[in-house]
Amino acid sequence: MPSTYKKIIYDTFIILIITALCVANKRLPCACRDVANCNYIPKNDEVRKEVFVLTNGSSNYKDWDWNTVTTVVDEDKHNLDVMCYSHSQHKKYGIIVKLDDIAAFDDLSSNNTNVTSWLEDFRIKARDTRADVVILNLMPLVPRLTKNEKDDRVQIDLFLAKLKRFILAPRDKMDCIVPWKPVRSGNDGSDDSESVSSMLAKSCDRFLLSPDSYAYIEGYGCKARATIPITKLVLGIDEYVTAGITEERLIMGIPWHGYSYPCKSFNETTMVCKLNNKDNTSTCDVANREKVSIDNLLTGNDIHVLSAEHWNNAYKAPCHVFKKNTSSGPTYHQLWYEDVESLRIKYQFAKDMNLKGIAIWTGDDLAKSKVDFVHDFNTEMWSWILHDLLGKGEIRPRGHAKYYYANTVTGVALGCLFGGMLLGIVFTCIGFRQIRNKKKTPPFAKDLEVEDYHDDSFNL
Ligand SMILES: *[C@@H]1O[C@H](CO)[C@@H](O)[C@H](O)[C@H]1NC(C)=O
Ligand SMILES: *[C@@H]1O[C@H](CO)[C@@H](O)[C@H](O)[C@H]1NC(C)=O
Ligand SMILES: *[C@@H]1O[C@H](CO)[C@@H](O)[C@H](O)[C@H]1NC(C)=O
Ligand SMILES: *[C@@H]1O[C@H](CO)[C@@H](O)[C@H](O)[C@H]1NC(C)=O
Ligand SMILES: *[C@@H]1O[C@H](CO)[C@@H](O)[C@H](O)[C@H]1NC(C)=O
Ligand SMILES: *[C@@H]1O[C@H](CO)[C@@H](O)[C@H](O)[C@H]1NC(C)=O
Repeated sequence: MPSTYKKIIYDTFIILIITALCVANKRLPCACRDVANCNYIPKNDEVRKEVFVLTNGSSNYKDWDWNTVTTVVDEDKHNLDVMCYSHSQHKKYGIIVKLDDIAAFDDLSSNNTNVTSWLEDFRIKARDTRADVVILNLMPLVPRLTKNEKDDRVQIDLFLAKLKRFILAPRDKMDCIVPWKPVRSGNDGSDDSESVSSMLAKSCDRFLLSPDSYAYIEGYGCKARATIPITKLVLGIDEYVTAGITEERLIMGIPWHGYSYPCKSFNETTMVCKLNNKDNTSTCDVANREKVSIDNLLTGNDIHVLSAEHWNNAYKAPCHVFKKNTSSGPTYHQLWYEDVESLRIKYQFAKDMNLKGIAIWTGDDLAKSKVDFVHDFNTEMWSWILHDLLGKGEIRPRGHAKYYYANTVTGVALGCLFGGMLLGIVFTCIGFRQIRNKKKTPPFAKDLEVEDYHDDSFNL
């Protein structure tokens, strides 16, 4: 008898423990109205090319052209509505995991309880968001990887491997946000980019080149530059390939925003806008540059354009110069942004180089107003990627029948050109509108004057 009691008590105890474990490990209930949307996107839906679109969930993402997108990446908030909607559209959902906390811990081993609790949070987040793709932002770790400390690098390596184990099956992708060129460590002149890269290549499946990382340029002189100078883009990809990370693992981040730089001095002849140095190093101080979304460019009135758009041939990007009144007098600002031609060159480059894809950085940068021309512009921005980059079907601006003349489109190339021109016109009109300071006219009213703008947009 006593032994039976013992057994019952023992069994109850075991059951209690199992129940406790299950409760502790319980997954959050599905947040979607349709429970099926909590399922991962099946792997056999794997695409040849990726078009990531980043969002912080603040815009009307449901209005996007979802055919264009392969994965929607939630930047920060990990908004489950975005997940439900992505899955309902049969598109992957990705989350970005910031590593700022981790970069601050000296000891990344499991001996540090702060690290173990961070890892546990990570595991739960990766699980409960039902993310198909987990993207680590490695940028905060770059300074540590740059230092030539082998022990530290071994710790980072083990740490990343642990993260990867947490998100395995049924998903299989852990992507990493990295700088425009491979991290190089060692101050003794030795090139260590290969060993850092091969370390990262074990855990990171694909590498997203951060568009904001091009600002970290040491020793190239302090002046305002395009967000992605095309010269550096080519150099960076070449260096990744040399370090053993091939093109089909690279995803190019493409900004849909620009930056306005306050100039320390501005030369109107050379159009060079000099910036301050950080402390007294050779690093430029870009902390006070201001982000300008396409929304601002299209609808904002705060940008007073002094000169017409200036096209920089070395960077393959446009800029505007304007003056701002400050307490210490007027200062020059140089605004580098993306127009139809600079975007076209980047999309084309991703395609020509056979990169894995692009990441639109970010979808929220588009204008939100309900005005017709904004709506048409947005439609154009989305459909363009689909046709040009993913190369599905014929290249034709969609949803623009009334601006679209059959006799203008004699072939694929011309169709593409026309799609581009619509965007070019929008940008050109902003310039003209602001310079002439005349009454607002609907930009597409200029469509019949396409010939007039042809040279503006395409004469490099
Ligand atoms: C963790 O702590 C144990 C004992 O305190 C020690 O032997 C081990 O080397 C530590 N591991 C790391 C990676 O620091
Ligand atoms: C862990 O975090 C606490 C609070 O943020 C901090 O005081 C402590 O020093 C950290 N421990 C380690 C080992 O980093
Ligand atoms: C601008 O640059 C040109 C060419 O380098 C130089 O000749 C000119 O003096 C500069 N102007 C100013 C105002 O610094
Ligand atoms: C660099 O700046 C620091 C203070 O910010 C100053 O003490 C130092 O003298 C400067 N060095 C040079 C070479 O100008
Ligand atoms: C800047 O100030 C000057 C006079 O101080 C004024 O004429 C000009 O309109 C101002 N510009 C802007 C953009 O506010
Ligand atoms: C989301 O991004 C947009 C565009 O960059 C920005 O204006 C907005 O403040 C952001 N919202 C949040 C909640 O971060």
